[in-house]
Amino acid sequence: MKKIGVLTSGGDAPGMNAAIRAVVRKAIYHGLEVYGIKYGYQGLIEGNIVKMELGSVGDIIQRGGTMLYTARSEEFKTEEGQQKGIEQLRKFGIEGLVVIGGDGSFRGAKKLTEKGYPCVGVPGTIDNDIPGTDFTIGFDTALNTIIEAIDKIRDTATSHERTYVIEVMGRDAGDLALWAGLADGAETILVPERQEDFQDVIERLKRGHDRGKRHSIIVVAEGVGSGFEFGQRIKEATDLETRVTVLGHTQRGGSPTASDRVLASRLGAEAVDVLLTGKAGRMVGIQKNVLVNHDIIEVLNEEHSVDMDMYRLSQELSI
Ligand code: F6P
Repeated sequence: MKKIGVLTSGGDAPGMNAAIRAVVRKAIYHGLEVYGIKYGYQGLIEGNIVKMELGSVGDIIQRGGTMLYTARSEEFKTEEGQQKGIEQLRKFGIEGLVVIGGDGSFRGAKKLTEKGYPCVGVPGTIDNDIPGTDFTIGFDTALNTIIEAIDKIRDTATSHERTYVIEVMGRDAGDLALWAGLADGAETILVPERQEDFQDVIERLKRGHDRGKRHSIIVVAEGVGSGFEFGQRIKEATDLETRVTVLGHTQRGGSPTASDRVLASRLGAEAVDVLLTGKAGRMVGIQKNVLVNHDIIEVLNEEHSVDMDMYRLSQELSI
């Protein structure tokens, strides 16, 4: 293999730039030529491809977002779109591809691999919902963004003696809600992976209020439903003054934490090594602080689950 490509796809995540840097630098270290594909699979279809040099990835390790930009391409889901992408790969002589993104991006990588273009996936999403890796790039930064926001909300919640419902991202996954809720001592954490009894939530709120708590924090993953609707239900079921904050896309931006930069550097570099060993259709990950790689197809068939021990702990600590 002499030429490889790299793209970011799906929702961006802090640390993607550090991963791009690692891919480019590790590939050049090995004597390869590297091409950056802009706007994910859509850019691949359109031939939006540029040669990357050592300097192309200078001064990006600390930046959020992705310098290659990203997109969610509907066209690439079609056979015709994939063929157009393959034509571009042929035109540029690109023999292998590193795909940085979430499960949707990996489905594209799987298609390309099946059609003879070896791809390696690097898990980059704030949701932390990719099986086969303990952490995804961007999760730690998003988590810290949430914590910072909740800490601020706590101040005003205490001053006014209010209940706050905080909706965090996580369409299908509750990791951000669970980790943030545990880290911030939330009274209740609602995740899509587990059904909570509404009456239990209300009882817990009332118990806290009766023993003199000046505020309550409820963290809701967006996959469970709207924070505003949940806040309304609480207002109707109690006489607690309730407010709702939806953190939204603030969670996706910002400078990556040290932990995300290190993870991205390790995973990006590992992806290049995996490609060079001739393995196709793999996803790199980290488990128990050891770099691993898995068959991307098998990984996509697995279910992501939240850590139920952590969930139980959060309940035990917020009695
Ligand atoms: O997958 C990452 C994620 O941030 C989800 O948590 C969220 O539901 C989704 O992306 C939002 O996507 P968009 O930026 O397209 O609105």
